[in-house]
Amino acid sequence: MHFEVISLFPEMFNAITQSGITSRAQSRGLYSVEVTNPRDYTQDNHKTVDDRPYGGGPGMVMLVEPLAKAIASAKARIVESGIVPHVIHMSPRGIPLTHQKVMALCEIKGLVILASRYEGVDQRLLDTVVDEEISIGDYVLSGGELPAMVLMDAMIRQLPGALGDADSASEDSFVNGLLDYPHYTRPELYEGLVVPDVLMSGNHAKIREWRLLQSLLLTRAKRPDLLAARSLTKEEARLLQVIDREQEQASS
Ligand code: ADE
Repeated sequence: MHFEVISLFPEMFNAITQSGITSRAQSRGLYSVEVTNPRDYTQDNHKTVDDRPYGGGPGMVMLVEPLAKAIASAKARIVESGIVPHVIHMSPRGIPLTHQKVMALCEIKGLVILASRYEGVDQRLLDTVVDEEISIGDYVLSGGELPAMVLMDAMIRQLPGALGDADSASEDSFVNGLLDYPHYTRPELYEGLVVPDVLMSGNHAKIREWRLLQSLLLTRAKRPDLLAARSLTKEEARLLQVIDREQEQASS
C-alpha cells in the first residue's frame, strides 16, 4: 500500500509515521507514505498557494495549478510502480467514511490523498483530477490533514500483519455491523465493581455468546441505525428474544 499525501503541513503526518501501530507497520514495510507540499510547485517568489474567491465572500481558495502539479507528480510515482492511482479529496462535502468504505479502499494499492486548507479548492481541480471526496463526519475541521490521517490509520490497521494479535481487527466495532462488547482486565474487583462471572468461567462458548449479546444490546441502545441496516442472524434474534422476555417478566 502506498499513500501520496498533498498537504501544506507535511510535518503533521509525523503523527502517523512516528508513533504506535502505524509507525510499526511502516517499519515492517506494510505501507509507505510520501507527503508533497504544493508550495514546492508554485512559480512566484511568495510561493502563493491561495487567492480570494471570484464572486467575493469570506476566506481564500486554494489555487488549481500548484495542486494539479503536486497531484500529477504524486500520481506519476504510483504509476511508475505499475499501480493505477486513485485520488481522494478529504472534504465535509464527501461521502461519509464507514468501515465498509475503509475495507473497499484497502483494495486500492496507490492512493493520493489531498488534504486541503482555507475555504476550499478551485472547483476545476475537483472536476479534473479528484476521483472522490470523503468526509469523516458532519463537522468542519481547519484542514484535511486530520481527516487524511483518520483515513490512513483506519486503513493501515487493516493491513495483514499491522496488529500484534491477528484477531484484533476482526473483533473491532463495526466489523460485524455491531458495536464492540465491553472489555475487562485485572483487578477482579475495582471500587466495588466486579468482572462479570461468565468472563471468569473459562466456558468459551458462553463467553462468546455473552459478548455477542452485549454487542447487540449496546448497538440497539446507542446505534439503532446500525441494527436497522442489517438483518439479525438466528442466534442474534434468539439472544435478544431471551433477554427481552426476561426483562418483561422482571417488570411485570
Ligand atoms: N476537512 C474539513 N473538515 C472535514 C471533514 N469533516 N471531513 C473531511 N475533510 C474535512
